[in-house]
Amino acid sequence: MDSSPPDLVAYGSREVPDFLLALIRKEVRSQRAYVVPGARPVPIKLNQNESPFDVPELLKKALLDSFLDVEFNRYPSEQPTGLIRALESKLGLPPGSVLVGNGSNELTYTLGMCFIHPGDPVVLPRPMFALFESMVNLYGGRVIGISPKADLQFDVDALLSAIDEHRPPLVILTSPNNPTGLAMDFADIERVVKSASGFVVVDEAYHEFHSSKSALSLIDQHPNVIVLRTMSKAFGLAGLRLGYMIAQPALITEIMKSRLPFMIDRLSEHVALRLLDQSSMVDDQIQTMLENTASLTKELQSRKDLTVLPSQTNFILFKADREPGKFLHDLADQGTLVRNMAGYPELKGYLRVTSGTANENKAFLKALDTVLLT
Ligand SMILES: Cc1ncc(COP(=O)(O)O)c(C=O)c1O
Repeated sequence: MDSSPPDLVAYGSREVPDFLLALIRKEVRSQRAYVVPGARPVPIKLNQNESPFDVPELLKKALLDSFLDVEFNRYPSEQPTGLIRALESKLGLPPGSVLVGNGSNELTYTLGMCFIHPGDPVVLPRPMFALFESMVNLYGGRVIGISPKADLQFDVDALLSAIDEHRPPLVILTSPNNPTGLAMDFADIERVVKSASGFVVVDEAYHEFHSSKSALSLIDQHPNVIVLRTMSKAFGLAGLRLGYMIAQPALITEIMKSRLPFMIDRLSEHVALRLLDQSSMVDDQIQTMLENTASLTKELQSRKDLTVLPSQTNFILFKADREPGKFLHDLADQGTLVRNMAGYPELKGYLRVTSGTANENKAFLKALDTVLLT
């Protein structure tokens, strides 16, 4: 039998032969790389649930000035202890409860690495932020997706039955939920936590926009609860990539073993620390975002051609009796970019608009009215 290695040079520099591609795990090859569908450069960007408020210029300048003292040639500390302590003290948590990551997206992979064995069932309500399902698939888990009720609210009874039937090592909730904008009642989150025999992750990326009790309050009594938060939304730091995970310290100690060192670069740590000191500015921005979302919802509801979901976040789902891909492009032609939700089978026909500044929302409504007339 010929055991000599294949002549790879024969394939040239552009082609990767099939036998090499076949060495890539099938769980990876069956995925699609993450792209934001329908994105194109237009003046008003309302497609990614970002804060419309950048860090004010004066504060940015002061931050960058103080960053001049930071040595770029030195590694950051293995874990950003200053930032971790600041988050723990802001949230009133015992030391060791927080783990920081390069955006909460990155921390979802940590969940997969720690909790999912190939073939494990993972129960989650649908529609859910797509990254979670792809993470489960990448780690070889089996998604048990629970359909929502007809009004897109969580079907908590169906969720509880699935937990009872499959006994999953991991249940994932997002509340308030992206892409629906709807929150799960705290009492229902508690029922899920109590009925689960494995871990329950509650992604609270949009918590600051919703007044309900946080799942953080369950951590003390329930060692299976893990909360994810981010500074990308209410804190307006999507460009810097800062998310964090909260759980009982003994669990964080274990999860920490799966982490790469130096996950957070020094600029992100520096800016996040200073922003945590600016709570009155951030609170004002959140208040404005809430008011703008409420008035945008009202405006959308007043247009008789639209179906609109009431939002508990900073974005709104709506639909018209139109093909959503064309609807999105017609709106983009008018200068505003929203998101097509067609990738979620439960949300066929829906578009999602992030609430921006008052002026951005006005421009979006003008674009919408122009398109609805055609
Ligand atoms: C539910 C949910 N979780 C997490 C994220 C991403 O957070 P991060 O920017 O911290 O990775 C998003 C972003 O859209 C989201 O909708």
